[in-house]
Amino acid sequence: MTRVAILISGGGSNMLRLVEDMTGDHPARAVLVASNDPGAAGLARAAALGVPTAAVDHRDFPRDRAGFEAALLAPLLEAEPDILCLAGFMRILTPGFVERFDGRMLNIHPSLLPKYPGLHTHARAIEAGDAEAGATVHMVTPELDAGPMLGQARVPVLPGDTPDTLAARVLVQEHRLYPAVLRRFAAGDRTPVLL
Ligand code: GRF
Repeated sequence: MTRVAILISGGGSNMLRLVEDMTGDHPARAVLVASNDPGAAGLARAAALGVPTAAVDHRDFPRDRAGFEAALLAPLLEAEPDILCLAGFMRILTPGFVERFDGRMLNIHPSLLPKYPGLHTHARAIEAGDAEAGATVHMVTPELDAGPMLGQARVPVLPGDTPDTLAARVLVQEHRLYPAVLRRFAAGDRTPVLL
């Protein structure tokens, strides 16, 4: 059974879809949900599904990214994950941390990468007058939001869209995309999922 750990920072809606999809003939199971915020609502949602949780408050490590990551690694390595999924995880990880999970760390980013790495992706797509927006699941590499693409979902940008209305439309597709990508990835298939 492939062991999957998921890192979250907030509500964890993507995490929930991943956990809920890992049942039956799915080759993987969630073994840990961890967060940089002990107050992340997703932690209680994961626990309600019977998934072990952990939290390391990054605010306990001011200007000490390495210290925070070392603390986060303890429960993470104890769970012995084969795959690490970032899902609404809002901390930038050091190259050292990323290299520990080289080739087996995924992230979902709310834009059609390589467009709009970083933050405020929906506002930027609207500002640019793009006809389409969406989400990308990619392998995590030391360069932010830049790893090989494993899946993409596209949605139309509609007249009158605000960042919030567009984010809501994209999020619906994220919830379809990430589970589909993880199923393929856990089965050793790197063929991109295009929705
Ligand atoms: C989503 O927009 C996702 O693309 C980004 O974080 C946001 C919240 O995700 N990674 P979640 O509801 O916490 O999964």
